[in-house]
Amino acid sequence: MNPIRELVDALANQYGHSPESLLPILQGVVRQERYVSDLAMVEIARSLDIPATHVYGVATFYSFIPTRPVGKYVIRVCRTITCMMHGKNQIVKEIETILKIRCGETSPDGLFTLLGTNCLGQCHKGPAMLINDVPYTELTPKLVRDILLQYSSGSFVDLKS
Ligand code: FES
Repeated sequence: MNPIRELVDALANQYGHSPESLLPILQGVVRQERYVSDLAMVEIARSLDIPATHVYGVATFYSFIPTRPVGKYVIRVCRTITCMMHGKNQIVKEIETILKIRCGETSPDGLFTLLGTNCLGQCHKGPAMLINDVPYTELTPKLVRDILLQYSSGSFVDLKS
């Protein structure tokens, strides 16, 4: 059996084989694989007995369910108005300069993907970003440099990876 089928079947056994289990199964695939591939969508559709187009529609609706390969660390910088007014563009520019990638791209070493996202609920402490599920607020270019250095040097301890 292919590993994706094994993973999907294990998740379906855990969450149930009904259409209501679609979202937790998608999240489970992301936890394990970092993104939901076309093959994973087909396997989910088979396992839940629903159309693959439905799986695709749900997966692509949520920005926190990547459907393309992403880096080990996904940086999501808030692009909503309050963070914009607090200097979000400077933050994105600093990250792009340090990592030598543009928003939407992954670094060649596969370590970082840079994305924009909508409000993270940290408006009073903008500009804000998430790295995987860790929030960072009141960002400055210097703070961003320090944070990225921690991740790229391996001194950041990701308890989930
Ligand atoms: Fe950026 Fe709300 S506007 S966290």
